[in-house]
Amino acid sequence: MVDSSRKRLVIGNWKMHGDAAFNSELLAGLRAGIAGVQQCDLAVCVPFPYLYQVRSLLEGTGVSWGAQDVSPHEKGAYTGEVAAAMLADFACSWVLVGHSERRSGHGETDSLVAEKAAAALAAGIAPVVCVGETLQEHEAGQALEVVSRQLAPVLALGAEALAKLVIAYEPVWAIGTGLTATPEQAQEVHAHIRQQLEAAGAGQVRILYGGSVKGSNAASLFVMPDIDGALVGGASLAATEFLSIAAA
Ligand code: 13P
Repeated sequence: MVDSSRKRLVIGNWKMHGDAAFNSELLAGLRAGIAGVQQCDLAVCVPFPYLYQVRSLLEGTGVSWGAQDVSPHEKGAYTGEVAAAMLADFACSWVLVGHSERRSGHGETDSLVAEKAAAALAAGIAPVVCVGETLQEHEAGQALEVVSRQLAPVLALGAEALAKLVIAYEPVWAIGTGLTATPEQAQEVHAHIRQQLEAAGAGQVRILYGGSVKGSNAASLFVMPDIDGALVGGASLAATEFLSIAAA
C-alpha cells in the first residue's frame, strides 16, 4: 500500500517553453484550480527569467516554484551560471538537477549532479535529482545498474541531506515520446531506488516518476507503492491537464 506519510508531489517542468503572456494565463489557471487538489503538493520549475513573474503570481497560493538547473559554485567568475543563493532570493523551493536533457546535452556527470544537489541544499533549496536510463541501456536490461551508478554520489551526501531532497526517475526513452513506462516497469525501478535510499538511512524520500505522464495515465502510476508523484513535462503546459494529474 502507499505509505501515507509521503505526501504526493507533482512538479511541472516547463523546460524552455513559455513567455510572459503565456505564463500569466497558465498560472491563472493553476490558481483557479488549486483548491481542488489539496491532497498533493504542486510545484512548477520554470526558466530562470520568469522566476520573478512566477513568484509574484504564485505567492500565497500553495503552489511552490523552482528552477531547472543550478551552478555547483557558490559565486564567482562563472559567466552564464546561476547560483543557488540567487534562486533562494526568488524564494525557490525546488531545483531540478541532472535532468537527462542536461546530462546528454551538456555533459553533466553523476558527480557534477551531486555537487549541484549539495549547492542547492546549502542554500535551503530542495534538489529534485533526476535519474534514468537511455533506450539503449533499457533494451540491454541495464536500467537498475544505470540508476544505481547515477545515484551513488548523491547517496554519499548522507542521510541528513537525502531527507531534504526528491528523486525523479525519468527513463529517457519515455520523455516526450508518448511512451510511458508501464506502472510495473516504473515500480520495479522505484523499489530499487527505495532500497538504496533505505540502506542510506533515507527511506522516506519521495520518488517521482517522469516521462509522458498525462491525466489519463497518472492514476495507474500513482497506485504503485513506491511512486510518490510525477515530474511532468509537456502536460504541465496546460493548466487543466496538469491539475488533472495532481487530482489523480
Ligand atoms: P514529458 O512529460 O514531456 O515526457 O517530459 C518529462 C520530463 O522530462 C520532465 O522533466
